[in-house]
Amino acid sequence: MADIAAARSLGQADIDSSASHLYNPPMFTTVQWKEGGVRLLDQRLLPGEVVDLDCKSVEQVAQAIESLAVRGAPAIGITAAYGVALAAQKISAESFDAFYSALLPSCKRLAATRPTAVNLFWAIQRMKEAAQSQAHLPIAAIKKHLLAEADAILSEDIAMNHAIGLWGAELIKPNWTILTHCNAGALATGGYGTALGVIRGAWEAHKNISVYADETRPILQGARLTAWELMQDDIPVTLITDNMAAHFMQKGKINCCVVGADRIAANGDVANKIGTYGLAILAEAHGIPFYVAAPSSTVDIQITSGAEIPIEERDPREVSHLAGVSIAPIGVAVANPAFDVTPARFITGIITEKGCFKPEQVGQTIDRTPALKNNKIPPS
Ligand code: MRU
Repeated sequence: MADIAAARSLGQADIDSSASHLYNPPMFTTVQWKEGGVRLLDQRLLPGEVVDLDCKSVEQVAQAIESLAVRGAPAIGITAAYGVALAAQKISAESFDAFYSALLPSCKRLAATRPTAVNLFWAIQRMKEAAQSQAHLPIAAIKKHLLAEADAILSEDIAMNHAIGLWGAELIKPNWTILTHCNAGALATGGYGTALGVIRGAWEAHKNISVYADETRPILQGARLTAWELMQDDIPVTLITDNMAAHFMQKGKINCCVVGADRIAANGDVANKIGTYGLAILAEAHGIPFYVAAPSSTVDIQITSGAEIPIEERDPREVSHLAGVSIAPIGVAVANPAFDVTPARFITGIITEKGCFKPEQVGQTIDRTPALKNNKIPPS
């Protein structure tokens, strides 16, 4: 109960990094500042190999985001924030103006990595504002401040996810089986996860839950990452292919769906991994609640509806090949949108660090963070 009280107070006050001390340390670290660079758990190699990737330049950070060594909306925002801090450390400048001008190309490179997850632009904008707010200080102090800001983005994200988990756990009934899609876990965030944060929250509340994980074609984040991550915590998980969801809903095997989000429009439409929209329609057809779990950094108040969310088109080889092996006729035309948009009407509730909201309320209810208040998010 103490933890639920903690989540409620997090919901009412601003999330701050001090909240992260309330929780158990994770079994692995997705993103961290280490030895003067950005250390990532290389998700391209999971579950076969658990190997870190050390990025010592902004270009390496950008390529890690593009190639999905790190992925998931909050995790790429945190990584980009550390990328900006890394860029700052390498700048030699006498004046703030010279320092800031030298920082901007790195911000631009990082912002060009992936178009859909708004957390990326949110985090870069917050880092730019952090630099500007300290313009009066010596350059060395600004560099230190930027690293501290990236650390704060990371620890705030972890704290928000624990709050999401505690709110979400209240919605999950004992003995439920929960379907999730893609990976919205510790691997997709600073730690603990959003959709998997809800699942972890319910598990830690002894609700005796179990999980169905969609494999999530084309690149199998569900099979490779979610199944692995839940097994690390001994949470019961059954892997299914994406086209099995309807069958298990019809058989009464699924009690609710919980997914993450890459960008939530002000009207509650949600962009998330391709296949999410289909699941939401299936859930409605079977009378199953469909929840989205995401921190407020995923809400884009600049966008009135999901139609405005840019959808990333990725390499056709992700569809035509499996683990590097061709599975389709050479030369076949391929479409590979990485995300789809689920209209608000199919969403039962959006679970944020402030509580669970009706989708149409999410834009009004979440505080406008300084990073988004006065600045347009760059288009893709
Ligand atoms: O292409 P990815 O793996 O970055 O896509 C990730 C997702 O769609 C996740 O479900 C989403 O970012 C939520 S992460 C907490």
